[in-house]
Amino acid sequence: MSNTVITGAAGFLGGLALVADPNVRLILADIFEPKSPKSSTAITVKVDLTAKEAVDGLFKSEFGVLDTIYCLQGILSRGSEDNFDLGLKVNFDSICLTLQAAHEFGAQSAARIKFIFASSLAVPHIVTPDTIAAPEGAYGMGKLTSELFVSEFSRRGFVDGRILHLPTVTVRHGAPAAATSAAFISGIIREPLKDIESLCPIGDSVESPALELPLWLASPQTTIKNFIIVRHIPADKFLLHTRAVCLPGFTATVREELDALEKVGGKKALKLVKFTDDPVNRRLVSSWPARFDNTYPLSLGFIVDEGGMEPIVRQFQKDIELRSRDALF
Ligand SMILES: NC(=O)c1ccc[n+]([C@@H]2O[C@H](COP(=O)([O-])OP(=O)(O)OC[C@H]3O[C@@H](n4cnc5c(N)ncnc54)[C@H](O)[C@@H]3O)[C@@H](O)[C@H]2O)c1
Repeated sequence: MSNTVITGAAGFLGGLALVADPNVRLILADIFEPKSPKSSTAITVKVDLTAKEAVDGLFKSEFGVLDTIYCLQGILSRGSEDNFDLGLKVNFDSICLTLQAAHEFGAQSAARIKFIFASSLAVPHIVTPDTIAAPEGAYGMGKLTSELFVSEFSRRGFVDGRILHLPTVTVRHGAPAAATSAAFISGIIREPLKDIESLCPIGDSVESPALELPLWLASPQTTIKNFIIVRHIPADKFLLHTRAVCLPGFTATVREELDALEKVGGKKALKLVKFTDDPVNRRLVSSWPARFDNTYPLSLGFIVDEGGMEPIVRQFQKDIELRSRDALF
C-alpha cells in the first residue's frame, strides 16, 4: 500500500491524477478544497502550502509515513509574470518547504520519499539533457530554481526526486484558466466545440502568419499515464547530474490546432475563434522551445502521443459528449 500526497490537487492535473487505485491511499492538498475520488481512501486538506506548519501537517496524517509526493502546486505562467511575489512564494518557497519536509519526515522511513515535481518547458532551452536553461519569464525562473533544489536533494540522498518538464497539456477540461499565457492553446479548441466563442491572443486573423508559432504539446491522457509511469522508474535509471526529464511531446503550430478544430468541429467551430494579438502573451509563448529530443524520456519508459492534434481534438469532443450524456442521468 502506497501513501501518496498530491499537492495542488484541486487543479487541472491534480484532478486528473485522482484515478482510483485500491493500492494507493491519497492525501489531497490545495488552497481550494480538493475533490475526493469516489472509490478510494483519501484525506482532503484545504491548506496554504506557503506556510511551514501546513506543509508539515501533511506528513503527520493518520496514514503514517508517506512514500510519494506529486508536487503540483503552482502559479502558472502569466500569473507569475503579473504577480512576481506570489509566483515566487508558490513556485519556489512552497516547493522548498515541501522538499524540506520530505527530507525531514522521510528520514523516518526505510526508503527515500519519491518527490515528483511538475516543472515546465518555460525553463528553456533544455532541448537535450545537456543544454543550458535560460528562462525568459518569472514562471520559468521559479521552476528552474526549485529544480536545482530537487536535484541537489536527490544527489545528497535526502529525497528520490523526479522532475517532469511537462509539454503544454492540451486540451484542458474545465473553465478557461485566466492566469496562464498557455490558456488559449486549449481554449481555441475547448470553447468552440462547446459552441462558445474563444479568443486567440496570437495574430489578428485566421490568415495571420503569427499562427505558424510552434507549440510543444501532450494530451491529458498521455500526461496522466506518464505521471503513473514516473513513480515506477528505478532511481538509478536517471542521469547522475539531474533528475529533470522532458516528458515526450509533439510539435504543432497554432494553425495546425485550428486545422484540427475545423476537421472535427467544422467551419462553424472555426468561426467561433476570434483574434486579438497580445504582445506579452505572444512574447512568453514564443520564448518556450517547441522541439525536444524524445529519445531519453522514451528510453526511461515514458509514452508519447501519436498522430498530432486531430486524435486529441476527437477525444476531447467524445469526452464532451460523454459528460453531457452523464449530466442527463
Ligand atoms: N497543465 C499544463 O499544461 C502544465 C504544463 C507545465 C507545467 N505544469 C505544472 O504542473 C502543475 C499543475 O498544473 P495544472 O495545470 O494542474 O495547474 P492548476 O493551476 O490547474 O493547478 C495548480 C494548483 O495549485 C494550487 N495552489 C496555488 N497556490 C497554492 C498554495 N499557496 N497552497 C496550496 N495550493 C496552491 C492552486 O489552487 C491550483 O489548484 C503546476 O505546477 C504547473 O506549473 C502544468
